[in-house]
Amino acid sequence: MNLHQTVVREAEQAFAAAGIAGAPVVLQPAKSADFGDFQINGVMGAAKKAQQNPRELAQKVADALADNAVIQSAEVAGPGFINLRLNPEFLAQNIQTALADPRLGVAETADKKTVVIDYSSPNLAKEMHVGHLRSSIIGDSISRVLEFMGNTVIRQNHVGDWGTQFGMLVAYLVEQQQADTEFKLSDLEQFYRAAKVRFDEDPAFADTAREYVVKLQGGDEKVLALWKQFVEISLSHAQAVYDTLGLKLTPADVAGESMYNDDLQAVVDDLTAKGLAVEDDGAKVVFLDEFKNKDGEAAAFIVQKKGGGFLYASTDLACVRYRVGKLGGQRLLYVVDHRQALHFEQLFTTSRKAGYLPENVEAQFIGFGTMMGKDGKPFKTRSGDTVKLVDLLDEAVERATALVKSKNPDLADDEAANIGHTVGIAAVKYADLSKNRTSDYVFDWDAMLSFEGNTAPYLQYAYTRVQSVFKKAGEWDTAAPLTLTEPLEKQLAVELLKFEDVLNSVADTAYPHYLAAYLYQVATLFSRFYEACPILKAEGQVSNTRLQLAKLTGDILQQGLDLLGIDTLDVM
Ligand code: ARG
Repeated sequence: MNLHQTVVREAEQAFAAAGIAGAPVVLQPAKSADFGDFQINGVMGAAKKAQQNPRELAQKVADALADNAVIQSAEVAGPGFINLRLNPEFLAQNIQTALADPRLGVAETADKKTVVIDYSSPNLAKEMHVGHLRSSIIGDSISRVLEFMGNTVIRQNHVGDWGTQFGMLVAYLVEQQQADTEFKLSDLEQFYRAAKVRFDEDPAFADTAREYVVKLQGGDEKVLALWKQFVEISLSHAQAVYDTLGLKLTPADVAGESMYNDDLQAVVDDLTAKGLAVEDDGAKVVFLDEFKNKDGEAAAFIVQKKGGGFLYASTDLACVRYRVGKLGGQRLLYVVDHRQALHFEQLFTTSRKAGYLPENVEAQFIGFGTMMGKDGKPFKTRSGDTVKLVDLLDEAVERATALVKSKNPDLADDEAANIGHTVGIAAVKYADLSKNRTSDYVFDWDAMLSFEGNTAPYLQYAYTRVQSVFKKAGEWDTAAPLTLTEPLEKQLAVELLKFEDVLNSVADTAYPHYLAAYLYQVATLFSRFYEACPILKAEGQVSNTRLQLAKLTGDILQQGLDLLGIDTLDVM
């Protein structure tokens, strides 16, 4: 159920009854449970407009609200706020409905869309490193929520498989006379490093590398065959990382830059024909008045280089056309490092002007900050190298396994390893997803593996606590009507009924941390409820009501964590 909307509708009716129909209702959670469940704001503004006394007007609204099917009581507080308590029967009924529903009472969105979401999208030919982590896990969570809300989600892994790095690699292998040998990922890594050194030190080598890029993009068979080998090795490595992380990405979602090669000239020609791209010093450029540089000149969005080469921007333009035209995307999301914000703004603006992005298609840049070390600098190894993703994930699993063993020394090794894997991966993902993605965040092993605070282990443990209740509960009636009497029973019920509201806001804003904060709140409330309200020691109806609240808590924790891409455990 959409709790927020339901309460807002009640308030709107009361506003109308009090003579301020149409004034905006601002509904917030109560400042503290002592005041009730929600607080209505907005009366003060309406009173000012209507030149009425805010307190008196608020009283009229409160009188109109009190004692109906949804609201138990409405009290005026301060100069024009109204504190609301929800009707326990209304809560009980909706908890029962949610329990009987495999979707836990969450309706699909009325406005379903085909959403194309671009995430992970590493540049190939190098091993995946920590810089690829955020896009991969943030994008995955957003895609899960959108799918759960009933949208058609098309995942696109826009891998960088077409740039200079491949020319460099080919040039290096030819120079080393190794172009005919088979190689593995570790070779590729080493070739890449060596090739980069050659590229930077020797201009002749750099020219050769660029020639190979031209050959590659022109379809030279020998170069293509080598390129294919590089790409396949890199992609199978990336897929292994995705599988370890438990991401939804599959090989079928790979739609790399190379895919758009044949379309690039057509796009530039089209932009030129439409008068958008113009010649500028040999290059083809779209001048955008919307983006002025510091001298007040229109920004140049270069779509073709002098000499005919194409760029990142050319590919992305072709890509927008494809995602809208061929994939039928109605909403395009790009989960990319915030340093690329300007590129995407310019891309969207150009695409709108060119008609690739019609007005009814939304395009959103879902930016995120940098993962920092505890020293406040971008996360690196002690020697200052970039950290490989496989190493980071191995360390997470190792640390979590040791932690699990220390808490539970009797655990068999394989079981500890299993739990350690689930907890370790969860800790890394949750540490990221629980923070506002737009900020930088500090990667801190101790904090993310703590059993206290807003962490994966805390939430996973809360889930196992709920499960342990049911192990001891025996037979109970899952469908009996609930009677909510204790304040903490009510408070937990209200929170559980906010699940749909929260998922809607994640789907709209693409901020997974709203969901994380919600789950943390559910787990915290459950733990207070669990202390204050004995479940199994209570009698009949009381025990049954508490079991139902516990059941829905467990179901919501599990479903919610799954939407963050995090697994639960029955014991840990
Ligand atoms: N491969 C790019 C990078 O590593 C990210 C691609 C993002 N997606 C896109 N359509 N441009 O920076």
